[in-house]
Formats: sequence, C-alpha cells, structure tokens
Amino acid sequence: MLNSSCGIDFGTSNSSIAIAKGQTVRLVAAEGSHVTIPSAIFFPPRSSMPSYGRAATELFFAKQEGRYMRSLKRILGSSLIRQGTLINGKAMQFDQIIALFLKNLKDKTGALVQHEIENVVMGRPVHFVDNDPAADHRAQEELKAIAHSIGFKQVAFQFEPIAAAFAHEANIKGEKLAIVVDLGGGTSDFTIIRLSNKYIHKKDRSSDILANTGIRVGGNDFDKNLSLAAIMPELGYKSTYGEKNLQVPLKLYHDLSEWSKINFLYTPKVVSQIRQLLHQSHDKRRLSRLLRVLEAETGHTLLASVEETKIALTGQQAHTASFDFMEDNLLMTITRAQFEEAIHHEAGRISNAAAQCLQLAGVTQRAIELVILTGGSTEVPLIQAVFKKLFPNAALTDENKLSSVGLGLAYDSQKKFG
Ligand SMILES: Nc1ncnc2c1ncn2[C@@H]1O[C@H](COP(=O)(O)OP(=O)(O)OP(=O)(O)O)[C@@H](O)[C@H]1O
Ligand SMILES: [Mg+2]
Repeated sequence: MLNSSCGIDFGTSNSSIAIAKGQTVRLVAAEGSHVTIPSAIFFPPRSSMPSYGRAATELFFAKQEGRYMRSLKRILGSSLIRQGTLINGKAMQFDQIIALFLKNLKDKTGALVQHEIENVVMGRPVHFVDNDPAADHRAQEELKAIAHSIGFKQVAFQFEPIAAAFAHEANIKGEKLAIVVDLGGGTSDFTIIRLSNKYIHKKDRSSDILANTGIRVGGNDFDKNLSLAAIMPELGYKSTYGEKNLQVPLKLYHDLSEWSKINFLYTPKVVSQIRQLLHQSHDKRRLSRLLRVLEAETGHTLLASVEETKIALTGQQAHTASFDFMEDNLLMTITRAQFEEAIHHEAGRISNAAAQCLQLAGVTQRAIELVILTGGSTEVPLIQAVFKKLFPNAALTDENKLSSVGLGLAYDSQKKFG
C-alpha cells in the first residue's frame, strides 16, 4: 500500500485539503464536488451534529435556529481560545469547535485512501498574530494540538505563501524569481522564492526561499472598514445621547463588524444597554436599527451584506444593498470610491509588507519576474492596481486562487514525509 500524507489549508474564510499518494498530488472534494469549503460551522439546537461550509451558511440564512460561526482561525493565539462559548446552552471550547471542522475535512479523504492518513502539513500564515511572537507560537501549538486530537500522528507546518508557490511550480518554464502575494480573509502573506519545475522534488528549499513577511490584515478587515465607514453610521455609530451629548459605545459597532465577535453581542446585558440608550438618544431612528439587529440576532446577515457589497464592488462602481431585516425597504448604495477610501490605510500596510519582503530578500522590484496572486482578496481592483504598479515588469499569474495553498501543502507533505 502506498503511504499517503496530506496538506490542510485551514483558512479564515475558506479551507481545503489535498493528498499526496506516491507521486500523485491532488485536491480532495471538500464539500459536494467543491475542492474548497467555507470555514463556517452551524450548530442546530438539540443536536450534536453540526453542519459545515456552504451547508452551514445555507441553514443559517434560511433562518434556522442555531449557532453560526465563521473566522474561527482568528481565535488561535488569542485569549478567546481558552474562554470557550455556549453552544445551545452547553459550554464548548473553541479548539473543540475547530477540531470538529478539521475532522470533517479529514474524513473527506476516506473515499480516496483506504487507510487513515497519519501525516499532515498544516498551513500557517507568516504571522498568526502581529508583533507578539509568544502569541504567534501559541497559535501554532494550538493548531498542532488540534491536528493531533483528530488523529494525525505527525504534524508539520509550512507558511501558506510558500505552499502557494509550490502549487504553481510545476507550470513554470525555466527558473523564475517570484513573489507570492497571498491575500486571504485574515492575513496578507508574502514569499520571495526561486521557482523552477526542475526543483519540484528538491527536498531542501531553504536556499531558494529568500524572504517571508506577513501581516494580520485581510478581507475580514476590508469588511470591517467598509461596515464602519458606510453602514454603521446608519445604525447610529458615533451618534450621541443624553444631556451631556455623550457618544454611544463604539466598541459595539466594532464588534458587530467583525465575524469572530458578533456572537458575543447577543447577551441580555448588551441588549438592555442599547434599550436604555435609546431613550436618551439624539438619533433614535438609526439607533433603533442597532437594537433590532441585536434583538433579532441578524449581525451575521448584516456583515454578510457588507461582504457581498465589497465583492460586488470588484466588478461594479456602485452597489445597492437591501437591509430589509433592519427596517422595511431600507436600501443603501455604496460606491467603489467609498470602499477604496475605507481600505486605503490597509492597502498601504499590505503594500508596505510586500516592500519589506523585497528588502529582506535583498532584491529590487525590477528583479521580480513573476507575481503569483493568490487568495480571494487579490480580486479587489485597488489591490491589483497596487501590485501592478509595484511590479511593472513581472508576469502575473492567478490560477486556482482559493485552492493553491492546500495543493501546495500536499506537495510539501510529499517532501517532508514521502
Ligand atoms: N471577488 C472578490 N472581491 C473582493 N474580495 C473577495 C472576492 N472574492 C473573495 N473575496 C474575499 O477574499 C477573502 C477570502 O479569501 P481566501 O479564501 O483566500 O481566504 P482564506 O484563505 O480563508 O484566509 P487566510 O489565508 O487569511 O486565513 C474574503 O475576505 C472574501 O470576502
Ligand atoms: Mg489563505
């Protein structure tokens, strides 16, 4: 029997798994016939069987009762991981929830290999957490413990952008100095690497990898910024109340704009706080929309509309979204210019992280021959413009944006365990 190993890309927004069996490396159908699965989980009430991915999202948006979660990766390395959460009245740790999601992914390999896969290379961003090496280390150890808990015996790690480079390498003609630009939901990661299809079976690539950089900025932050800039003001963000003209608590709006924090707002304490404020509010109409979202627990619906708007603005200059769930016939039109203004600062940070990668590698912009764009956030027109300007001489490739990391991790598992 051929020994097999696998690679798992546990993404903030989307995940994938690929297996390496002998010389063959391939992506596994992770949900139906799709090779990627949204990193979402839905717990229906009174049932221990959660749903995952698109199925989870569909159940949630069909207004089924239950608990919906996204962006679980952002919890790794944070204090929330030990805090746990209530799922239908039962306490559950976040690492158990991530384990359920990853076990579901691992089980999808069952039809392709008749034995349990024991060895895995897990992807990781260059930094799970910025400027905090201890938290970053903890995040990896947490993910490693989760991988062991679902039955993997040997667990190795690889930077996600390096994996993306490996996935593209088979198609490279000659030797090319490449930069991988991997902009996902949670992080932006860069690698400068020498690629050639002759190197595919080379075990030690350390001399080809010139530099890695990464920051904890991704599409989730674009959603957050767009929400705060264009939507939250319509829910009373920065409005005032009372005789002293105090500002409403802004943290609520920040949490409502972040996938991994929305659930924490659905407490009687928060709801009654807003009810109190509403009496003294100077903008009752808008603030009552916030109250309605919290009472009806439609925070995910709201942020999903923001994300949909962001994605629509990739193809269009303006988009009109319906917010019927907050107020009858409430429509808002948001323009690409507004979005670009909202993410201006983040786009600058992403571009600086790429520049820092060049600096660390000791190469000039002009020396880069190939730019490998991967990750969903590289679709954003402003981001594409930034990278075209940064690397005017380079060829650009952007195949399999959402699955190249998973595939590359399986190539790496072949090198590490094959
Ligand atoms: N057409 C589009 N325009 C703009 N953004 C998009 C588009 N398509 C997807 N995105 C964004 O891309 C992000 C998801 O990308 P991806 O699946 O690469 O992330 P991930 O691998 O899960 O995250 P990470 O690698 O950071 O953990 C989301 O924020 C999503 O909104
Ligand atoms: Mg990714």
